[in-house]
Amino acid sequence: MTRILMVCLGNICRSPLAEGILQSKVNPKEVVVDSAGLGGYHVGELPDKRSIQVAEEHSLNIANQRARQFQLSDFEDFDIIYAMDQQNRDRLLEMAPTEEAKRKVKMILDEVFPGESLEVPDPYYDAMFAFRNVYKMLDEACNSIAQKIE
Ligand code: 4NP
Repeated sequence: MTRILMVCLGNICRSPLAEGILQSKVNPKEVVVDSAGLGGYHVGELPDKRSIQVAEEHSLNIANQRARQFQLSDFEDFDIIYAMDQQNRDRLLEMAPTEEAKRKVKMILDEVFPGESLEVPDPYYDAMFAFRNVYKMLDEACNSIAQKIE
């Protein structure tokens, strides 16, 4: 069983999409996918309407998700922790209690562009085009992740 956690700031825009997209590409008997936010502002909320909409445009339902805050025990409960941007990654590395925990933290777009630390931009203050762009980036990244796992 491989356990994968997707992390962004609010857990309402990017990481819920990453969770839903990867889940749709893997065998649920072999892979657990979850998501969390580093901030606590949106805990308990549904994903952003625009993320729900762009997921629906690709026949994915993410409206069963509720935002939660990243917690230290996630470093033990997951094998790989994907950060959406460098700020997320730096915060995760600051929080990581051990070297092993640090090694679990990766930039999700490094799965497509290894070593480049490219970011999935925060779409919160933008329009639908930004959410569609996020979807495309995450879809490519999740294709690579799913292929690797198989
Ligand atoms: P996310 O987007 O990190 O992709 O979920 C954000 C959502 C909300 C906020 C920031 C980013 N916020 O500051 O409320």
